[in-house]
Amino acid sequence: MLVTAGPTEEPIDPVRVITNASSGKMGYAVARAACEAGARVTLVSGPVALPTPAGVERIDVRTADEMLEAVKRSVADCDVFIAVAAVADYKVKNRAAQKIKKGAATGMSLDLTENPDILAHVAGLKDAPFCVGFAAESERLAENARAKREKKRIPLLAANLAQQALGADDNDITLFDDRGEHPLGRGSKLQLARKLVTHIAGMLAGEKRARAKA
Ligand code: CTP
Repeated sequence: MLVTAGPTEEPIDPVRVITNASSGKMGYAVARAACEAGARVTLVSGPVALPTPAGVERIDVRTADEMLEAVKRSVADCDVFIAVAAVADYKVKNRAAQKIKKGAATGMSLDLTENPDILAHVAGLKDAPFCVGFAAESERLAENARAKREKKRIPLLAANLAQQALGADDNDITLFDDRGEHPLGRGSKLQLARKLVTHIAGMLAGEKRARAKA
């Protein structure tokens, strides 16, 4: 399994960044749960303050471009890709080589350009692994999650309310797949990650049975 976790950091100048509020806890819990379930796990991680789960191979990255490169290098080897990272949607085009000084800031603006969508890239590969996305919504969870799953063309999406999840040790997750909506309920991020891994294993077993019948 290949898992992305944590935020990405997009530099503005040598000391400032654009980033997302993400502790990495959910992604690390998913990597740990997958490893406990017997998977060989590679974790591509943005900057977080968390220890590497036992048995997991961790690759540290900073920007979305670096995350995409690391994912491209590992993806051919994986059966399941779980995108938990809170990737910054934009990066700075006119980033300053030197620290921007206070006085220079009058009328200053940042020229932003879109980052690559790592999950969409992997889902669009010819031999794409089983892809799982995460969505942190601030409202209308089910409606937004269903639309996101279809837009990204992925079999499974885990959705939560951003206000509940950010930085916390527990969460409340609902899964969305072809069969509908599956609330996992409230629990620690590790408990929910274990339920997610069990759900993925069930879906993979179903796919295998369907292939065997065909
Ligand atoms: N994702 C990714 N690469 C990006 C952006 C997102 O891999 N550049 C992945 C995340 O890891 C997550 C899912 O896509 O699995 C989130 O989807 P997205 O539509 O980007 O979520 P939001 O950023 O919340 O979208 P929006 O801002 O439109 O709500």
